[in-house]
Amino acid sequence: MRCTEGYREEMGDDRINLIVIFGGQSAEHDVSCVTAAHVLRAVDQSRYRVTPIGIDRDGRWQLATAALAALEAGPRALPERLEAVGDSLSPTPMLAAAVLAGPVVVLPLLHGPLGEDGTVQGMLELMDVPYVGSGVLASAVGMDKALAKELLGYHRIPQARWISLREHEVGPDRLAAVAGELGLPVFVKPSNMGSSVGVSKATTLVELQHSVDHALSYDEWVVIEEAIRGREIEVAVLGNLDPVASVPGEIVPGNEFYDYEDKYVEDGAQLLIPAPLTDVQSEEVRRRAIEVYHALRCEGLARVDFFLEEHGRGFLVNEVNTMPGFTPISMYPKMWQSSGISYPELVDRLIDLAVERHRRRRRNTKH
Ligand SMILES: Nc1ncnc2c1ncn2[C@@H]1O[C@H](COP(=O)(O)OP(=O)(O)O)[C@@H](O)[C@H]1O
Ligand SMILES: [Mg+2]
Repeated sequence: MRCTEGYREEMGDDRINLIVIFGGQSAEHDVSCVTAAHVLRAVDQSRYRVTPIGIDRDGRWQLATAALAALEAGPRALPERLEAVGDSLSPTPMLAAAVLAGPVVVLPLLHGPLGEDGTVQGMLELMDVPYVGSGVLASAVGMDKALAKELLGYHRIPQARWISLREHEVGPDRLAAVAGELGLPVFVKPSNMGSSVGVSKATTLVELQHSVDHALSYDEWVVIEEAIRGREIEVAVLGNLDPVASVPGEIVPGNEFYDYEDKYVEDGAQLLIPAPLTDVQSEEVRRRAIEVYHALRCEGLARVDFFLEEHGRGFLVNEVNTMPGFTPISMYPKMWQSSGISYPELVDRLIDLAVERHRRRRRNTKH
């Protein structure tokens, strides 16, 4: 029996209230609004009663009334992207009322800080609502590149050489020492971000200072890494205790690296699914993706990204995304499609996993 069916019977209701939260305060607000439109279109309305909730750029929550009306008119009436506007509401009373009204699952389709980083997940834990994706810990660690790297290092999972610095530690001497240790060029990134926002490549000490200043405008921690010359390989992982890995995909960046424009603005990057790898390489990267998933305690879903240094160290993990891009043309759903799981089925599976995780944690938590 499917997990959600049991849940529906148990609660004596015939449709699950699927609360789709989108938008958010991060630089990835727009991406989330596009994703939400596609997810709403794919949701089976005979099984789920959808409540779209938008978070605007200032962090205000609202019932997305236009999206709700479009949904009622039929999925075709939905626009290409939702707007995070409507009737304002307070999240905690809304969630408490939803829980009392019957079975509910939250789908937090939020990317970046204040969405993908454990903050919203923490609120959902407090409200005791099942939600799609990783819990507080994995979401927070997955979002923080420096901490994720420390943990992966502890598990001896190969990655690029790196150094992290906090704002007050940055100065010319320290940066010269970093360049001496890692060599130039390097990649500089804010520790807590996504979508390549704040990421740049530095080939000289002067550029390094600029790159660090730029990254520090997004977060007080920066990560500096040796520049890897390699292919970019990604794997989609799905599951809770016993996760499975998709066929790997490859990104061939159109720009010098896979930057924001390449991801969302231009049509530059090429996506190759499956990635042209040997069977041995493919098995290795899938196995490693699952190791990373466990090391960071991910649940539900994550996309694990690697570099492949072909004539060197092989696969080096780059980062983990606990709420990866999820439009039908995003890597995560496309890799599953190529592995035999369609977009609507993926949404269903994620909801089942949310319910399963919630039940398990309830059993394991003594209040
Ligand atoms: N150490 C590195 N060596 C080479 N390219 C890198 C390195 N780090 C990042 N990049 C390039 O920058 C892109 C964005 O960096 P990433 O760490 O994935 O940040 P984000 O979380 O913003 O996606 C990568 O997809 C890759 O093209
Ligand atoms: Mg990335």
